[in-house]
Amino acid sequence: MQNIKLTIDHAYGFVSKTSIENYKDIANQANRALHEGTGKGSDFLGWLNLPSSIDEAHLTDIENTAAILRENCEVVVVIGIGGSYLGAKAVIDALSNSFDWLQTNRKSPAVVYAGQNISEDYLYELQELLKTKKFGIISISKSGTTTEPALAFRLLRTQLEQQQGKADAQKLIVTVTDKARGALRTLAVQEGYKTYVLEDDIGGRYSVLSPVGLLPIAVAGFDIRKLVQGAVSMEQLCGVNIPFEDNPAAQYAAVRNELYKSGRKIEILVNYHPKLHFVSEWWKQLYGESEGKDHVGIFPAAVDFTTDLHSMGQWIQEGERTIFETVISVQESNHTVLVPKDAANLDGLNFLAGKRVDEVNKMAELGTLLAHVDGGVPNLKIELPQLNEYYLGQLLYFFEKACGISGYILGVNPFDQPGVEAYKKNMFALLGKPGFEEETKAIRLRTKN
Ligand code: PA5
Repeated sequence: MQNIKLTIDHAYGFVSKTSIENYKDIANQANRALHEGTGKGSDFLGWLNLPSSIDEAHLTDIENTAAILRENCEVVVVIGIGGSYLGAKAVIDALSNSFDWLQTNRKSPAVVYAGQNISEDYLYELQELLKTKKFGIISISKSGTTTEPALAFRLLRTQLEQQQGKADAQKLIVTVTDKARGALRTLAVQEGYKTYVLEDDIGGRYSVLSPVGLLPIAVAGFDIRKLVQGAVSMEQLCGVNIPFEDNPAAQYAAVRNELYKSGRKIEILVNYHPKLHFVSEWWKQLYGESEGKDHVGIFPAAVDFTTDLHSMGQWIQEGERTIFETVISVQESNHTVLVPKDAANLDGLNFLAGKRVDEVNKMAELGTLLAHVDGGVPNLKIELPQLNEYYLGQLLYFFEKACGISGYILGVNPFDQPGVEAYKKNMFALLGKPGFEEETKAIRLRTKN
């Protein structure tokens, strides 16, 4: 097995090599603070050694639960929002056939999502679809009180019980929630649902390698053992004793902090494969929620190239120079498509005849990188040898570890999200939730409602 590789050469010229080397001590200190539990938010470090602490019994248990859902369901609905669904969707999309939803001879249930929005049309259309399907539910909420998934779970649980009867429905519902608190825990205990615990010390956005991610990924038919193996290897490669020069997480944390200090306020994560779109969505949450606080933090954005070169390309090439890019580059495609020769050559593409489509994609990637660097955009690159479970496991853990180090270098607590509560308080007040009477009065005065 190879390893994913970070290259920062195309950031030099914007920040100096010496300035990055100067991060050695602070990055090492941040890494030590994570491992010694001496930094901010140290009660949320359960993700740090999670990959290497996953044992055989745990994996087998998840695989057995997944097998029950796989045998009995055409569709499995994963209910969750934010960290409670993005990791699973990132991995499942990255590994699935791009036209998975059109396949008729499926070997695995289709995994669909709910509770990640409150759109009535979305829920109506999902309920209509499920009327003719054998379906199961994985309901994920650490707090067990988040409105969006709770609402979706109420609707879909009721539908499943009506379609299957309560006893059968009970076997097709699995929950992942906190050990002791929250409405989902109470419900799961009362109804006797199979339940996995998301430990107190693992925040949602760091939970992809817990049952939150592993169970849906196993249901979709992917090898969670290889995913975990990849993460374990990256846990070692970014370990506390790995020197700064050899530690990709410490290097990434250092270079993005130095770029931020030099006025690069926006990081754009770039991919050249549309199936990586949700890896970017997962990454956006991880970095946005971890670093965007105390009125500081890089704004995490993402694009899918070459698609978005035809929409955002102009801005990136010539807009305000406050951005840098981090490119996820997949070295070897999983399939081969050759450009055919055409005798008439009316489209003028015979210069590509016999080449792989991936070679065209790679030249677009290199050409874009050079053009963007020439246009004043620092570029970092993360190379994945191939798109498979192992390297995705490496990538996910790499980003998590780098995020912890980066947040500490920035001086914030990368494990809390106090700002997420503000909208909830207003929504509850507007909806008249018991306990929010004072807020309701204040909002009425403000909105004259
Ligand atoms: O990262 C986080 O903590 C959040 O994104 C949560 O995962 C999200 O808000 C959902 O919370 P819960 O799992 O408690 O329903």
